[in-house]
Amino acid sequence: MSKAIDGFSKLNKQQKIGWLTEHYSGDSEAAAREFAQWQHPDTQVQKVIDGFTENTISNYTLPYSIAPNFLINSKLYAVPMVIEESSVVAAASSAAKFWLERGGFHAEIAGTVKLGQLHFRWMGDPERLQRMFPEIRTLLMSGSDDITTNMRRRGGGIRDIELLDFTHAEPFYFQLRVSFETCDSMGANFINSVLERFGALLEQFMTEYPGLDDAERDVDIVMAILSNYTPECLVRAWVETPIASFDDLARSQGMDAAALADRFATAVRIAEIDPYRATTHNKGIFNGIDAVVLATGNDFRAIEACGHTYASRDGQYRSLSHCTVENGVFRFELRIPLALGTVGGLTALHPLAKRSLEILGHPSSCDLMCIVASVGLAQNFAAVRSLITTGIQQGHMKMHLINILNHLGASEEESAAAQYFFQKQTVSFSAVRAFLESRRLASEESTSVSRPV
Ligand code: MEV
Repeated sequence: MSKAIDGFSKLNKQQKIGWLTEHYSGDSEAAAREFAQWQHPDTQVQKVIDGFTENTISNYTLPYSIAPNFLINSKLYAVPMVIEESSVVAAASSAAKFWLERGGFHAEIAGTVKLGQLHFRWMGDPERLQRMFPEIRTLLMSGSDDITTNMRRRGGGIRDIELLDFTHAEPFYFQLRVSFETCDSMGANFINSVLERFGALLEQFMTEYPGLDDAERDVDIVMAILSNYTPECLVRAWVETPIASFDDLARSQGMDAAALADRFATAVRIAEIDPYRATTHNKGIFNGIDAVVLATGNDFRAIEACGHTYASRDGQYRSLSHCTVENGVFRFELRIPLALGTVGGLTALHPLAKRSLEILGHPSSCDLMCIVASVGLAQNFAAVRSLITTGIQQGHMKMHLINILNHLGASEEESAAAQYFFQKQTVSFSAVRAFLESRRLASEESTSVSRPV
């Protein structure tokens, strides 16, 4: 049963922890100690972290890892990844190494257009609104000059404004769909500020425009917000190699290279045909993408939402990647919209996000799009390669075993013995516990036997 409270946000951090541990925790002292333990030792840094959201009482740690050997457009990167899932970083690193020896990843930007929408209701003739639109447009552009000056100086700004008539779907509903160039910033604040100004300017326009009746003057601004669907902020990443370069891998599986390449392409085609497989396939891509997006202080929810909409753009949810085997050449490609920023937002505030961008050599947002797409493709390559050869559990269980051993407090010696033993056994929590218990029992017995009476 929940305990309600008024004014929680007004309490200071200690009071919040006090209230929480008093009402919710089994062991309130241990919980308070734990929340305190995860605070950053530098109070200035902690203050910055506290400022990211409201009601912060502690920090939640995730591993910060590096996947080295990513050759992307002939430049070598060690890529920071933040993710909790076992074997994702190992898989990305292994795919990076595989492609390092085969020309690396290639990536190219197809567009950088960001979008925003002003949704409004207007009780007039749609054709009349279309006739008024050129004047509305001029007012919107000039009336938002002060907000766009800096962005225009950097080479960005408002690119286009379209008036869309949705009255067939919802009475009186129109939309302004606005395209932006936001340079190296993700641009959410910029876009939302411009759109809110557009709302105020549209209201002003309607009140001042001559010859409108009362209903037409009364434009109803429903909402002004960026769209996270940015199909024209698009990057394409690909790898290619003669199929003969799969010889070693294929031989280790008792196959020939052509059969392996063909099975890989079939697995990708299945994800293009079947939404159930496509969801898992794309989840594997986002394992890599989200990890870099998070490490660089970008918004992984926006990236995910956009990617999944893009995957459904023809009306069916499909794989984001595509594979061909033609004339003896294997080609694997990922096309994905990625609205990323390398300036502003958390990129400058989160100490490790800043460090990630430094490790990546201070990329532009376009460079970062190429890096993130390549890691997504690498992750997808590694997953499909495992699935069509050894199966996914071998790699997963190796990492899972380490997690279980840590959870059960195994010593280094016990861990080494368990890792040897479980090379040929199925890993499960109970099997690992039984293994440790029997070892510990055997060691106790041998100590008591050798103890002098
Ligand atoms: C697990 O996190 C991701 C995979 O399921 C992706 C896939 O099936 O392609 C292995």
